[in-house]
Amino acid sequence: MSGLVEIKDLSVDIIKGRGAKAKVLSILRHIDLSVEKGRVLGLVGESGCGKTMSVLALLGLLPEGGRISSGQIFFQDRDITNLPRREMEGIRGKHITMIFQEPMTSLNPLLSIGEQMREILLQHEGLSGKTNRDKCISLLQAVNIPEPEKIYDYFPFKLSGGMRQRVMIAMALACEPELIIADEPTTALDVTTQAQILDLFDDIRRRINSSFIFVTHDLGVISEIADRTAVLYAGYVMEECSVAELFEKSLHPYTDGLMRSRVGRKAGNRGQLYSIPGTVPLPGTLIQGCPFAPRCEFRTERCDKEVPPLIETEKDHKVRCWRYHHGG
Ligand SMILES: Nc1ncnc2c1ncn2[C@@H]1O[C@H](COP(=O)(O)OP(=O)(O)OP(=O)(O)O)[C@@H](O)[C@H]1O
Ligand SMILES: [Mg+2]
Repeated sequence: MSGLVEIKDLSVDIIKGRGAKAKVLSILRHIDLSVEKGRVLGLVGESGCGKTMSVLALLGLLPEGGRISSGQIFFQDRDITNLPRREMEGIRGKHITMIFQEPMTSLNPLLSIGEQMREILLQHEGLSGKTNRDKCISLLQAVNIPEPEKIYDYFPFKLSGGMRQRVMIAMALACEPELIIADEPTTALDVTTQAQILDLFDDIRRRINSSFIFVTHDLGVISEIADRTAVLYAGYVMEECSVAELFEKSLHPYTDGLMRSRVGRKAGNRGQLYSIPGTVPLPGTLIQGCPFAPRCEFRTERCDKEVPPLIETEKDHKVRCWRYHHGG
């Protein structure tokens, strides 16, 4: 059975500069990901690992100079890799929607909440007049916005960060998309609001059968919301498994490092916070072997020379590490 989204062997480069001085930065490398219908895939990894780039590639929104250098992206069994802009616009906003970290950057400050919501429903669903307004109000209600009739006429600056994020979620839900992508949707919020928004996501996924890709650097968020997780590092998928397995028997030393950083924080540990030594390699750094090798306590000679393949160690659990590669 194929999933709602299938990303196969996707590599993305960004070309900086022009002519003889142009430099090719390798951003994503041979990424394989899939999202089943009605399921939540969590994407985790430290800053700069390629989480946002992966979802931008899927949406056909790579930044300037970005190009897909290998692989394919399928959505509902349709190959949408490098789809013409017009066709991709028809998919974005209706079938796939995105919620960003900072809603102020995606809300238009010059238009009221109602005007912005109305436009989506008009453009994608052809709704106008009272039908359109009623739908907007019910969407605002669905994301627990108090006094939705009033908020409908508000401009974004009048709302708190949490309320703006709720509006963004309402907009993302407007056309009942098959896939909702949320990129760090709670990071900019205080802890209480964060918890409320996570509850809201949970509620939504129970009510409608949309699939989610949830991008976060926070494993706590993953444990609450996701079914499966892909751990990214330097543009590679290092491990991919169910959330239960991630917490019970993660395999990759990098995943363990992320996990330990979290446990240290949770246990209080008298302020002694574990952090993985070293830093994420910058794009453009020459990597010959495993990208995590310089920070890995299990590093061997082979790790410095060859990139390990992503192998399935047991059913539905994949890892990219020589420690689990027997034979060959
Ligand atoms: N426009 C750009 N030009 C060049 N490099 C870029 C550009 N945008 C992103 N990158 C690089 O691509 C890599 C992946 O970036 P990405 O934004 O996907 O990381 P991320 O995992 O989402 O990190 P964060 O947690 O900080 O959001 C990073 O090294 C980043 O510096
Ligand atoms: Mg990001």
